[in-house]
Amino acid sequence: MKFFVDTADLNEIKDLAATGMVDGVTTNPSLAAKSGKKFVDLIAEICAVVPGPVSAEVTALDHATMMKEAAVLKKIAKNVTIKVPLTPDGLKTCKALSSEGTMVNVTLCFSANQALLAAKAGAAFISPFVGRLDDIGYDGLELIADICQIYNNYEFKTEVLVASIRHPVHVLQAAKLGAHVGTMPPSTLRALFNHPLTDKGLKAFMDDWAKTGQSII
Ligand code: G3P
Repeated sequence: MKFFVDTADLNEIKDLAATGMVDGVTTNPSLAAKSGKKFVDLIAEICAVVPGPVSAEVTALDHATMMKEAAVLKKIAKNVTIKVPLTPDGLKTCKALSSEGTMVNVTLCFSANQALLAAKAGAAFISPFVGRLDDIGYDGLELIADICQIYNNYEFKTEVLVASIRHPVHVLQAAKLGAHVGTMPPSTLRALFNHPLTDKGLKAFMDDWAKTGQSII
């Protein structure tokens, strides 16, 4: 399973990239707005840190303007993935960009049928939002199971990029279902490293080692 980090905070991206666990980055207009930076510069800076796919979302709602925005974003770096919303115009843009070899991430997916449309439009990634479904009383992970099953049935190449991940259990369940990618906030990625028994065990090892008075180097 690939781990993407869902943030536009460059310091967080650099810090986590140094762990070797960051395979890509996803941004959205809300995260970009929070960064306070010029969007094109922000994406260029992120692409310079992470060589994997970096999602940059179009902000137009119509196909023609989406294509113009995508042309600008694509020029920033080779690893830019154009993110489009799951709307008829977004999918039309997805189909046009995918057929010319550009990676597209279709976002704001909340149903398996929407995911089916995105795969038929040639998306490189589909982003179903598990946390936002959980928030309104639906089962976000059930959607991931449905999409994985449907994509397997037809051998679609589109990767399931689980988005709106809120905690480590979302990551665990998505991995058990075979989702290709999980994009998560920095705090969730950091939480994956932690276990109280690791801390406890390490302390005991270090205490015992200190008693020997030795040093390896
Ligand atoms: O980037 C899209 C998605 O991951 C947003 O998550 O927590 O705002 O629902 P959230």
